[in-house]
Amino acid sequence: MEKIRIAVIGVGIIGEAHLNTYRTIPEADVVAICDINEERLHYIGDKFGIQRRFTHIGRMLEEDDIDAVDVCLHNNMHAPVSIAVMRAGKDCYCEKPMAGTFYDAREMYRVMEETGKKLHIQLSLLYTRETKAAKRFIDAGKLGHLYHMRSYGFRRRGRPYVDGYAAKEFVNTTTSGGGALFDMGVYHISQLLYLAGLPKLERVCGHTYAELDMDPGRREISGFNVEELGVGLATYENGLSMDILESWAIHGRPFPSSILCGSEAGISLEPLTIHSRENNIETDTTVDLGQMDYLEHTVYAADAHYDNSQHHWIHALLGKCDLLPTARIALETQRVQEGIYFSQMLGREVTADEIETLSESRALVIPNL
Ligand SMILES: NC(=O)c1ccc[n+]([C@@H]2O[C@H](COP(=O)([O-])OP(=O)(O)OC[C@H]3O[C@@H](n4cnc5c(N)ncnc54)[C@H](O)[C@@H]3O)[C@@H](O)[C@H]2O)c1
Repeated sequence: MEKIRIAVIGVGIIGEAHLNTYRTIPEADVVAICDINEERLHYIGDKFGIQRRFTHIGRMLEEDDIDAVDVCLHNNMHAPVSIAVMRAGKDCYCEKPMAGTFYDAREMYRVMEETGKKLHIQLSLLYTRETKAAKRFIDAGKLGHLYHMRSYGFRRRGRPYVDGYAAKEFVNTTTSGGGALFDMGVYHISQLLYLAGLPKLERVCGHTYAELDMDPGRREISGFNVEELGVGLATYENGLSMDILESWAIHGRPFPSSILCGSEAGISLEPLTIHSRENNIETDTTVDLGQMDYLEHTVYAADAHYDNSQHHWIHALLGKCDLLPTARIALETQRVQEGIYFSQMLGREVTADEIETLSESRALVIPNL
């Protein structure tokens, strides 16, 4: 069996999760890992039986037998490392968000085009059964004119690090670039942009907040300076709008799911429901997702290339399917997210072109690159 030889850079929480997932993909062969933290490097190397271990990214990228590299570092390291990976002649998988700013994400996209290497961004909601079924309804034209979408993400109290889970690098602009919008909003916004066929952004306005109290010790250690709540209203071409509400922390109950509204029908994504009007009756259709999934892995198993982001990536590298345009989807997600930050900063709506002009690099200098 032909296999893709992979190296993983950054074997923290998500790097370890990726290694677990690669174990479930027969065509994936993890041949090397890299982490600046030697203790962690050896712990993970021993746990997964990976012998080739590096603390220097640049040295690992010189290895000829590595086909593809999976970047699991913090956001403001995504651009410099992914760019180095592609320039080293290797295909690149990168964690979300694409980068710490739109500027850096656009650089990654540019180098992808320049080198001809494959760049894939982890956007896990593109592979859910709900997304797959919704896409079928949309592609069949069932929604009519799609005119509004709502991107919703809710945590009542789940700011990384200061509320418990994950590292302090998620909550300061130096390492993360942004807060709830970048961390979780990326999933919900990218899911809708994908389903809507990547519409062109015209303008966006919004606000960001960090109002709730937190543990003072953790606030100080982390340098928390990002939003715990982001809200926005984006206008796309052809009269399409999207409102966004993404919360890491809020005094409130869970929001209903993301939705798409069309002239002929609408879709709620969780639980997946198609809303329409049949025979003069308002109708809600539910979908047998289990049966859809079963058929996709039995009758149509030869086309099952979308089980999860890593599975899809490996199949695309092996030429079994086209890679979903995740780099483009992630770039457009980053554009609207950063537009909300600029709108908050300037106190007004900003255009898509202004976001291009205003965005600057936050890429970190990486000592071991
Ligand atoms: N934690 C999650 O649940 C989760 C989920 C989805 C996506 N992500 C994304 O994954 C990325 C990493 O998050 P994480 O939670 O795994 O962080 P983490 O802090 O647990 O892991 C990061 C790892 O990178 C290593 N590292 C730092 N600088 C390095 C360098 N110069 N060279 C080599 N290694 C270096 C660290 O030692 C650490 O082991 C972020 O972009 C995040 O948005 C995380």
